[in-house]
Amino acid sequence: MSVTTYEIIDGIGVIRLNNPPVNALSHALRDGICKAVKKAQKDASKAIVIICEGRTFIAGADITEFGKPPKAPSLPDMLNVIESSNKIVVAAIHGTALGGGFETALTAHYRIALNSAKVGLPEVKLGLLPGAGGTQRTPRLAGIEPALDMITSGNPIAAAKAEKLGLVDCVVEGELLQGAIAYAKSLAADKAQLKRARDIEIKPSKSQALLFERYRAKMAKRARGQKAPQNIIACVEAAIGQDMDAGLKTERELFMELMTGPQSAAMRHMFFAERQGAKVDGLAKDTALRPINKVGIIGAGTMGGGIAMNFANVGIPVTLIEVNQEGLDRGMGIIEKNYAITVSKGKMSEAQKANCLKLIGGSTHYDALADVDLVIEAVFENVDIKKEVFSKLDAVCKPGAILATNTSYQDIDAIAGATSRPADVIGLHFFSPANVMKLLEVVRGSASADDVIATSMAMAKTIRKVPVLAGNCYGFIGNRMLRPYGREAQLCLIEGASPEQIDKVMQGWGMAMGPLAVGDLAGLDIGYKARQGLSAEQKGDPKSYCIADALVEMGRLGQKSGSGYYKYDPATRARHNDPEVMKVVEQQAKAQGIARRAISDEEILERLTYAWINEGAKILEEGIAQRPSDIDVVYCFGYGFPAYRGGPMHYADHIGLDKVYKRICEFAKQHGQANWAPAKLLKQLAKEGKTFAQWAAR
Ligand code: 3HC
Ligand code: NAI
Repeated sequence: MSVTTYEIIDGIGVIRLNNPPVNALSHALRDGICKAVKKAQKDASKAIVIICEGRTFIAGADITEFGKPPKAPSLPDMLNVIESSNKIVVAAIHGTALGGGFETALTAHYRIALNSAKVGLPEVKLGLLPGAGGTQRTPRLAGIEPALDMITSGNPIAAAKAEKLGLVDCVVEGELLQGAIAYAKSLAADKAQLKRARDIEIKPSKSQALLFERYRAKMAKRARGQKAPQNIIACVEAAIGQDMDAGLKTERELFMELMTGPQSAAMRHMFFAERQGAKVDGLAKDTALRPINKVGIIGAGTMGGGIAMNFANVGIPVTLIEVNQEGLDRGMGIIEKNYAITVSKGKMSEAQKANCLKLIGGSTHYDALADVDLVIEAVFENVDIKKEVFSKLDAVCKPGAILATNTSYQDIDAIAGATSRPADVIGLHFFSPANVMKLLEVVRGSASADDVIATSMAMAKTIRKVPVLAGNCYGFIGNRMLRPYGREAQLCLIEGASPEQIDKVMQGWGMAMGPLAVGDLAGLDIGYKARQGLSAEQKGDPKSYCIADALVEMGRLGQKSGSGYYKYDPATRARHNDPEVMKVVEQQAKAQGIARRAISDEEILERLTYAWINEGAKILEEGIAQRPSDIDVVYCFGYGFPAYRGGPMHYADHIGLDKVYKRICEFAKQHGQANWAPAKLLKQLAKEGKTFAQWAAR
């Protein structure tokens, strides 16, 4: 079947595109559009309409073609054909006109859009810039600042706003084809001009220089380490005071620089990884899902409250259970405060807040859960308490209800064993703050039923989370990998580094925060308390926790007590280095018989990142993660890993597994096999000269 068709309807040449699922601009589509526009030049049509079948207008260039040899006609070739048409071309937009799709529409002479449509240039999210005139036509039509906002954020805007900005000419409701034909007919009848954005001139002015400077600084902060936003600003700057072709030349050069660079490769990898992560190998696509219309949550603490908000936000009623009314009131108070913050940021109206709050009810009796479809337990991290909760749930919940735990580390099978229905039990591991963080680790127990897994993955999408399936082991994917990372941070500290050196290295490399600053944020007492329940063997080498223990025993619990690895200003929460901490570090090093030495930034980076990679390889070997890209999704969406480095496993592929493996062998020699025994899979791939991605595609 052809992806493009052409026919004359009511005197208008209608080019229909049909390239499911999102009408991406594949070679066949580009070729079809060129041929149809050329054909229309010679026939009796009075004007041309480009319209799409299916759920959306063109959603962009075909990302799967990136990195492959280009095939003519290229996207710029196709846009030239449209723009130079002697007959008016109208782009008729529904769904989302994105990236190269919106650039196609901008090249048409007029744009008509359904009221429900959105338009945008999301290339920055792929580490790219709009490479088909978007950086030149958008500022010409909408002005410099709106163009900078739109292109550097990558966020789509509604049709009505696009109309106000001059990016869309006409917004309609109802049947788009009819509306577009009527619009094209009226333009042709009025002998409307062939409006070409390229003909608009942007005159230079003094204030522009300041504006660009402001955006450069803003992007350096908001998109720290990323190349694309800076290149975008340079392109928009090139739209000023010179003709379109000169601007297009700059755009092409800077686009190609990004396209062939590692940041965009990593971000394109993350685009597909996110979508792949939602898929469960071996699960029938038509697995019937259990309906989730009512949800129960046990524990209205830090996590329970945030989890409840996710469901209320999409209109699903929630019942919160607490041990007493005081706990319930405290939890509801925090939820209200969080919603109030969202309102104050202009991201929600008072009415929406009231609606959400109406959907969250509370009780101190488990009987209130008799008719819920899903329960998520978020009580203290103690397996005995969790087992007790699950045996109560088993007694009150209706047959078929999914019983989930938000545990960070505990054995899902042990928890399921406290019920008479282990097939209905699963882990749903949200991340803090649960109303903000996108990741959801869905942890399958050995008895979890297929439809419970499938329903959990689908539910994640409903509440706008990014799900990844994990197997059942201590810490699952994310927290299991965090242990060796944290261990190496502690060992670097005791062997010679300072907290600020370690955090500076990791933050400078792209992490949202360094590991010790994260410790202070989460509270050092959490790890301390968890260690109290472990045997000496489980705790591991005291060198990897003695500093943390000493700080907690001094009352330095992190931000909440005003000091931890750093000192915090009580008013501003600003972080300051603290010589007291270095005294503790030196005392502990002495007690452990360590002669501290200078540690290079490179060693810190390698030890921390390679510790992740080695554990990740073990997780793959054991089948705890379905695929390497799932680990990348966990880290980028749950742990502040920079998306422009593509997650730990993609990063390892980028460095080369041979190099990583050799360095890990050196670490094993220097620091011992206990911490650095290389994963078998890593050794195998390094020997075969392969990448994790190649292994996944085996
Ligand atoms: N190229 C190739 N495949 C694409 C694609 C694209 N541009 N956009 C989406 N797909 C694929 C997805 O991988 C997915 O495949 P799968 O079913 O095999 O997993 C399928 O289409 C459906 O996508 P979603 O699951 O994301 O569907 P949604 O309905 O949730 O979202 C969407 C639809 C909003 C269009 C979303 O897919 C999206 O944001 N796509 C990317 C848009 C984009 O970034 N466009 C710019 C591309 S770069 C460009 O145009 C460069 C130019 O300036 C030169
Ligand atoms: P929290 O201490 O803030 O809240 C726990 C709440 O559960 C308290 O309000 C308590 O009163 C209530 N509770 C205890 N026993 C109960 C029972 N039998 N019935 C009803 N309510 C009961 O704890 P937090 O941080 O919310 O953690 C909850 C769970 O989520 C733990 O398993 C934790 O490991 C996990 N988790 C925590 C994250 C975090 O960053 N805080 C991140 C991801 C998971």
